Amino acid sequence: MRKKIIAGNWKMNKLPNETIEFIEELAPLIKNTENEVVICAPYIDLFYALLTVQGTNIKIGAQNMHFEEKGAYTGEVSGEMLKSIGVEYVIIGHSARRQYYDETDKAVNEKLKKALSIGLKPIVCVGENLEQRENGKAKEIVTTQTKLALEGINGENAKKTIIAYEPIWAIGTGKTATKEDANETIKWIREEIEKIYGKDIADCVIIQYGGSVKSTNAKDLFTMPDIDGGLIGGASLNAQEFANIINYNK
Ligand code: 13P
Repeated sequence: MRKKIIAGNWKMNKLPNETIEFIEELAPLIKNTENEVVICAPYIDLFYALLTVQGTNIKIGAQNMHFEEKGAYTGEVSGEMLKSIGVEYVIIGHSARRQYYDETDKAVNEKLKKALSIGLKPIVCVGENLEQRENGKAKEIVTTQTKLALEGINGENAKKTIIAYEPIWAIGTGKTATKEDANETIKWIREEIEKIYGKDIADCVIIQYGGSVKSTNAKDLFTMPDIDGGLIGGASLNAQEFANIINYNK
């Protein structure tokens, strides 16, 4: 059975002192969960977060990385740098990065290859915008993004890749995909993975849903057969609310 991974994506929120306070508040609330709990914090908070999660079941992730190890890339952070301080997860290809920083499918693929090669656990985001959904293009968009992200990656590494299906129209809007639509789209993604790697591998790949997940809809979404947890933005900024989402099955 696939594990549920509940990851918070803080985006550009929280200072180091707020990070420490948040983790101290969250840790006792979720200590009995069997779900994997991840906080993807801004770069500047990562070291504080890593110190504070010691002895807890909370894992730490970054929200982006560069695909080169080092070099003249002003303002960038490499996967090796993240790994060196103990970061375990990294979000790749979030729609905000695709939208505001022109991150291409090719860059997503390069970052994914790098993350896998150094043992970072990648969370690759895919998802359609409203116009694409309304024009019946959602399937084509998410399956193409998935295929291009996984280009040149072998089956063993595909199994280690986490996909987050995040419909752009549901991010930060309060509009959530229905559990049926979210499950169906995630199934399309899984079928695409099956086409490339076969059923055994496709059945192992963890595929999350993201987009206006809250404690009030988490259970509906996460108990669907193909939805393996979530990537949570706004609702992950409040420790009690995030804990309620993580404890959806308690
Ligand atoms: P919201 O939960 O705020 O809609 O954000 C989702 C998201 O983008 C997580 O990566």
